[in-house]
Amino acid sequence: MLAPPTEFPDALADPQSAPEIRRGHRALRDIHLAVIGASGRVGSRLLELIAAQEGTWHAAGVDPRIVGVANSRQALISLPGIGAANAVARLRAVTSEPTAAAAFAEALLHLPARPLIVLDCSASADVAARYPDWLAAGIDIVTPNKLGPSADKALAAAIAAAQKASGTHLYDATTVGAQLPLLSTLRELQRAGDRVERFEAVLSGTLSYVLGRVQQGEALSAAVRGAVAEGYAEPHPARDLSGEDAARKLVILLRALGHDLDLADIECVPLVDAQLLAEPDPARFLHGLAGADDTWRARAALAQARRECWVYRASFDQADGRARIAPERVPLDHALARLAPCENKLILHSAFYRAAPLTVSGPGAGIDLTAAGVLGDLLIATRRYAVQPAATTASSQRIEAAA
Ligand SMILES: NC(=O)c1ccc[n+]([C@@H]2O[C@H](COP(=O)([O-])OP(=O)(O)OC[C@H]3O[C@@H](n4cnc5c(N)ncnc54)[C@H](OP(=O)(O)O)[C@@H]3O)[C@@H](O)[C@H]2O)c1
Repeated sequence: MLAPPTEFPDALADPQSAPEIRRGHRALRDIHLAVIGASGRVGSRLLELIAAQEGTWHAAGVDPRIVGVANSRQALISLPGIGAANAVARLRAVTSEPTAAAAFAEALLHLPARPLIVLDCSASADVAARYPDWLAAGIDIVTPNKLGPSADKALAAAIAAAQKASGTHLYDATTVGAQLPLLSTLRELQRAGDRVERFEAVLSGTLSYVLGRVQQGEALSAAVRGAVAEGYAEPHPARDLSGEDAARKLVILLRALGHDLDLADIECVPLVDAQLLAEPDPARFLHGLAGADDTWRARAALAQARRECWVYRASFDQADGRARIAPERVPLDHALARLAPCENKLILHSAFYRAAPLTVSGPGAGIDLTAAGVLGDLLIATRRYAVQPAATTASSQRIEAAA
């Protein structure tokens, strides 16, 4: 059940002006959270982590209160709070309404609960399209959903303008490499004035897993089903196999480096034919994938005969501005070869990294890692609202020292 729209006084101009509350000896600030995609794989795991980390919240000076949860058919708003541990069960008990998601998105704008942080754990373009409205209304957003940060130039500009005007922020570290420090590293280099000359990368944990299994003799369709079962794949795995998911990550990385481009500027070669990718139903898509098994069996045999392996390689070269993502064969001793299942890797050459390239690698997909990364971003997002510890300040220490 959705709360009736309520007049909301003012977005908090000063985050520190929200009322403090006391829990025992600690002064904390209430942080309101709205979780979209709460019953999905990442969303429900995130709720479990939020419920389990009371000590972390109190150490951070905040007390999170979930005031809204939604999926594509159900939505629940409760200003007194919804316990994280039973939020999914309460959401599932709500009567389904086809318009629930849109009504929820609108209701958040008028909710008399600030600070408010939206956790978008969907993979929905409709949800991403609401980012400018929420940001402009003083609501921060934390998300692993790539569709906002990699949106077309018009939506990307609206998101940037809304953040600038309102002082709110979109936290998107987990959109590339789940919990790996990929985006944050590139943003730090960019802020420090480094100039990235070129990089190559494997950005799809799902396709690392799939191509690894295909090279071990498994059929492509079985390997993709395995990636779905492991929780690595996108809600619709065609987004992985088409290269769209990895291409969006490349857009997000390049935007972090200051490049003004979008998906249409990425040269993207899919793993299977467009005809197979056109199937809108995920279950039927998985079934139809068997049609590509023989092709990939032959490709794997060819690579093996040449002592090579297949990787889904992303590359960017500043010299010609070319950004490309494609299945490619590399020698077995290549730095991108023999990655662990679901591993991501970035190898970057820049003005600061001349002696040797910067390399970031590790598992870059999975429900636990993504949910943990979203929780990390959420903690960063709450920092500006947290009650500052009333510990001895630097100036009072100086006065004591002078006395
Ligand atoms: N899995 C990974 O390794 C990984 C890594 C990095 C990033 N991510 C990202 O994390 C996000 C979540 O992935 P997931 O695997 O948890 O997906 P999922 O299990 O399919 O969950 C998606 C959730 O979003 C809800 N949803 C869809 N459209 C919505 C709408 N318009 N309004 C409100 N809710 C909506 C779905 O509701 P219904 O249940 O009603 O359909 C579902 O609860 C995706 O953006 C994905 O790209 C995942």
